Amino acid sequence: MISEYFIEFFNRLERQGPGDDNYTELAFCLLDNLPKNPRILDVGCGTGRQTLTLAGIAPCEITAVDVFDSFLNKLNENLKQETLKGTITTLNASMLELPFEDEQFDLIWSEGSIYIMGFENGLKEWKRLLKPGGYLVASEATWLRRDIPEEILNFWTTAYPEIGTVTEKLAVIEQCGYQPLAHLTLPEYGWQQNYYDQMEAQKQDFLDQYGDVAEAREVVESELEMERNLYQKYKDYYGYVFYIMRKI
Ligand SMILES: C[S@@+](CC[C@H](N)C(=O)[O-])C[C@H]1O[C@@H](n2cnc3c(N)ncnc32)[C@H](O)[C@@H]1O
Repeated sequence: MISEYFIEFFNRLERQGPGDDNYTELAFCLLDNLPKNPRILDVGCGTGRQTLTLAGIAPCEITAVDVFDSFLNKLNENLKQETLKGTITTLNASMLELPFEDEQFDLIWSEGSIYIMGFENGLKEWKRLLKPGGYLVASEATWLRRDIPEEILNFWTTAYPEIGTVTEKLAVIEQCGYQPLAHLTLPEYGWQQNYYDQMEAQKQDFLDQYGDVAEAREVVESELEMERNLYQKYKDYYGYVFYIMRKI
């Protein structure tokens, strides 16, 4: 159950998960057969850091979907300050029941969000929304080594049992009827500087305002302190990998 303090804390951040503008752009540039004005669905957009990056690169038409209005409102506020090549429309909808007809999109984009319904399930369910030959790009928690220490194995198998190796993820992509085109591992600064350092920068102000509420302190302890400690200890073993694929 996501608390109001979770939303309040994450709404202060530029991104709600590890990521990097250059990696968003790099993944997009690998899609060599998009139409000139692609229709893009950004699933679980949060406050839309990657949405703004994509709309800055190409004259695209993006529908950005999330379940929290405060994230979508922040994206709409940020949108006003930018001069973009593409357009962005926000929509409050769940990725579990996306309200679109079949074959509407040239590209589905999901940074750090497909885990919510599971990688395999997401690939299967969203496929109908892609035009023939349409692309899907998703960043997904992935094991980077096989000799995984017990502490981090236990953490991830509880948090997200579907975490797997690159080889396992590529097999899932093929089984779901996509052609894997490329994969890119997000570098460490995408976690440390772009995510945990941003949280750290907001922490004191957030705790000054809500530090007397146990639920608010819990958000900082689990989302920032506990997860950052695990990342620093075990960053060689897991990371986010961008998977770039095409509907067959
Ligand atoms: C880890 S964040 C990633 C946000 C953003 N893509 C980024 O990388 O900064 C996951 C996002 O999925 C959204 N989300 C959670 N459940 C959802 C659902 N059922 N449908 C759509 N979005 C959902 C959350 O609100 C959050 O913004």
